Amino acid sequence: MNAPVATPETAIAVIDPKSYAAWDPLLDLFDKIRAETPVLRIESPTDDHAPFWLITRHEDVMRISKDNATFLNSPRPTVLTNRAGEALAREITGGSPNLVQSLVALDAPKHPKLRRLTQEWFMPKNLKLIEADIRDLAKRTVDRLIAAGPEADFVPLVSAPYPLHVVMQILGVPEEDEPRMLFLTQQMFGGQDEDLNKTGMANLSPEQISQIVLGAVKDFTEYFEKLAEDRRQNPGKDVATILATGTIDGQPLDPLDLAGYYIIVAAAGHDTTSASTAGAMLALAKDPEQFAKVKADRSLVPGIVEEAIRWTTPVQHFMRMANEDVEISGVKIAKGDWLMINYVAANHDPAQFDQPRKFDATRDQNRHIAFGAGAHQCLGLHLARLEMRILFEEILDRLDSIELAGEPKRANSTFVGGLKTLPVRFRAS
Ligand code: HEM
Repeated sequence: MNAPVATPETAIAVIDPKSYAAWDPLLDLFDKIRAETPVLRIESPTDDHAPFWLITRHEDVMRISKDNATFLNSPRPTVLTNRAGEALAREITGGSPNLVQSLVALDAPKHPKLRRLTQEWFMPKNLKLIEADIRDLAKRTVDRLIAAGPEADFVPLVSAPYPLHVVMQILGVPEEDEPRMLFLTQQMFGGQDEDLNKTGMANLSPEQISQIVLGAVKDFTEYFEKLAEDRRQNPGKDVATILATGTIDGQPLDPLDLAGYYIIVAAAGHDTTSASTAGAMLALAKDPEQFAKVKADRSLVPGIVEEAIRWTTPVQHFMRMANEDVEISGVKIAKGDWLMINYVAANHDPAQFDQPRKFDATRDQNRHIAFGAGAHQCLGLHLARLEMRILFEEILDRLDSIELAGEPKRANSTFVGGLKTLPVRFRAS
């Protein structure tokens, strides 16, 4: 088959962060691409991005995610990055295309060794030990929402601070430093959105965005170096202590790996969960019947949580590099080619999900791929589910009704996306 190449308009739409703020048109675009050319070559008309293959079928995204020998994370940027950003990262790091040397930017044999350090900690059995703390935090968060009512913006009051606070607790970051962590994460992930990056300016150049991200990485690194030193002196039971005192092949983690690990947990752990939490609330606010149903039957809460994660797909893509010549859905991919595994498109694939745009908490076999699959599958997936379940149990206990009080707005971002505002009106019980 001849390589299907996107038209310039389609290529721009896929690359432009603004496309990701308009959800239905974005899903229309992916539906069309998936139906006509499920493996599509994207060539930026201005050549500011290197060409890549856009993968939109659930089956293909799953296969690539699980085949970690054929599809590598590390040689090329793991997130869609323009040429200027990649060059800057390579210059700064002395060759790596990723500014942060974290789990997602590594392959075997180093990746599994680093991952094993904390894997146990993130399993349900260990998380039980922090469940009471999380519930306490969820209660206090709902108190704050109710105090601000009967109308409030759910994002800054609830969905943003709550997961941030959980992840900061497990990293051992004191509460007074949390605003700084939130700010830094938004610099790293929200650099493409004028409301979330620190300049307040739209249409930043690729170089400006890269500089914002770089500044955040530097701040994070300095902060976590101090935290690790403190944990070596005063060990606790948190993830910070495991990392500060852990060894690989008998050696302590080198400073770059250590900083990268803290940064990935700090950054990956909250904007994502914040987006799916806000998405769950949006679904309930738009559907009073569903709200009443789940309020009456709490066994439906895990279904709400899982469906919200699929329906919102907070991590919109990751990139891989083909490590050998390979064929995907009949299209030949050459060794060295760059691929975008698009979780949004995959999670709305009608071949996998009946009526994919419908929020259906009773979906059978919700085999979504929002947490990825294979060796890099989200380390925090049990934690994310636990946090969301507890928060919604508390919300359902304390609120009698909830509805939209204005237009929700999504962030401009190709990578981690979701709502940045969600005005709601509610009645407390
Ligand atoms: C990796 C999604 C919450 C920590 C990932 C990946 C995705 C993802 C798609 C990459 C998977 C792959 O390449 O196959 C999400 C979503 C979340 C969420 C949608 C919330 C709804 C969390 C939380 C934490 C976390 C709460 C930790 C506190 C990580 C880490 C990785 C990761 C450390 C890298 C794993 C590796 O490369 O081995 N996540 N995540 N995530 N996530 Fe999450």
